[in-house]
This record gives sequence, structure tokens and C-alpha cells, in this order.
Amino acid sequence: MIKKCLFPVAGYGTRFLPATKAMPKEMLPIVDKPLVQYAVEEAAQAGLTDIGFVTGRGKRAIEDHFDISYELEHQIEGTGKEQALEGIRNLIEGCTFSYTRQMNMQGLGDAILKGETIIGDSPFGVVLADDLCIGEDQGVLSQMVGLFKQYRCSIVAIEEVPADQTHSYGVIDGEKISDTLVRVTDMVEKPAPEAAPSNLAIIGRYILTPDIFEIIRNTPPGKNGEVQITDALLTQARTGCVMAYKFRGRRFDCGSVGGFVEATNYYYEKLYDSNA
Ligand code: G1P
Repeated sequence: MIKKCLFPVAGYGTRFLPATKAMPKEMLPIVDKPLVQYAVEEAAQAGLTDIGFVTGRGKRAIEDHFDISYELEHQIEGTGKEQALEGIRNLIEGCTFSYTRQMNMQGLGDAILKGETIIGDSPFGVVLADDLCIGEDQGVLSQMVGLFKQYRCSIVAIEEVPADQTHSYGVIDGEKISDTLVRVTDMVEKPAPEAAPSNLAIIGRYILTPDIFEIIRNTPPGKNGEVQITDALLTQARTGCVMAYKFRGRRFDCGSVGGFVEATNYYYEKLYDSNA
């Protein structure tokens, strides 16, 4: 039912300079796979196989990654190395890829609005590849798609964060529906701890209904002078419905050096230590 997924990848990745000077931050590898591939795999597993990137200058390596590399593939044909490309080949075969550009960095809300041309008028997923998520039984987006079938409204994934971290996230408040579900009544982008309505932080997984585009168009710039998806979602929560979902699984904040190293250690142990 939901087939499309948007990946805003125009950001500069300044926290990883100089590594990201000439390379997209989404191409940084966790062990042997770029962050963006983990993210697209999660979407594809959830049945979201129409992949749309909102990209920017200096991000062409992402397009090349989701394309066939004839020379390389010819070179390694028939060798054991072919196996390393199996995952990405399957993605390329199973998904379609579209690209549009965000020319000026005007916030996540603006980036999502730029994706309207790819999405059109159907509900869609949004994945921020910086947040690497490992679902417990199924991927986080799959869990959210299941919920969407029930509630048919926008859904944001949340997790509890320490009070001194609220300034890094959109933070929600709302009515508790169950242990894992909250109906959103308030939402603030990157509040100081004393202004935070709770410690429930939005992480980089969203399912949005397409009316969000018109709402974003009418949303003035907010925090840091940028058009915030958080502000648009608050309007949607007040005029309709937005759910916040405490997902089953774990998230690594790979937009920070600490989270990136944690994710690397996690995957290293999973992939190599267990075979040792
Ligand atoms: C964005 C959103 C924020 C959300 C976060 C999740 O912020 O604006 O609401 O909590 O992603 O990773 P960014 O991390 O891009 O500054």
C-alpha cells in the first residue's frame, strides 16, 4: 500500500569533516556497507521500493552506488568477490530510484517538500540515513507500516532520550494510547531541557500523509531559520492526527562520531566476531 520512500540526503555532514569534504556523509561505511544502503534496505524490506532521494551538490556517489558498475562487475565476475555485491544488486533489481535536488539548505521540512515531485499524492516513508535502526523482530519502517494500516495518519518514530539531549531532536508530547503509542498533541523542534514537553525524541523514521506538502508550504521558518518538519507535523496533529511510536529495536545516531563508532562495533561483532 505504501510504496514510496524519501531519503533527504542534501546535508553537508560537517561533523565528519574532513571525511565528508568530497564524499557524501551517507556513503560513510559501517564496516563494509554505506549508511545509505542500510537505510534503503530497511525501506525495501518494508515494501517501500520506490526510492526517492532529495539530493544536493557533491552527492553523486549516491547515484553511482545505486547503479550497475559494469567495469567493476566484469572484473570480479566468477571470483569470490562477487558475493560482496549481492546485497546491492538485489536492491537495484527490486527498487526504482529517483532523484531531485534541494538547492539551498532550508531545513528538513523544505527537503521533504522538494520530494513532492517524486511522491505525488500518496502516503510515503521518510528515512534519515544518519539514524541507523535495527528492528527487534522486523525493521522499524515495517513496524510503522503495520501501524499505518490501522491508523491511516502520519506516524513518527520516537525514543526516550536523557533530558540533556532534547536540544538535538524534535520532542513530542501527547495522549498515551498504549505502552508504545502516543497521539501527538505537542511537538517542539530542538528544545532546551527546560522547554522540552517530554523526553520523547523523534528519530529519523516517518510515515507521512501527502497533505503534509500543503502544510509545509504554509509553515514559516522556525528553529535556526529553517522550515521544520516538526512544525508542519504539529499543525497536522492539531488539525488531524499524528501518532508517535516507540519502536522495538535499537537506534545508532551515526550523525555523531560516538554513535557511528558504536554502530561500527555492533556490526563488526555481528559480522566478524561471531565467525572467529
Ligand atoms: C532532524 C529533525 C528532528 C529529528 C532528527 C532525528 O534533525 O529536525 O526533529 O529529531 O532529525 O534524527 P537533524 O538531526 O537533521 O538536525
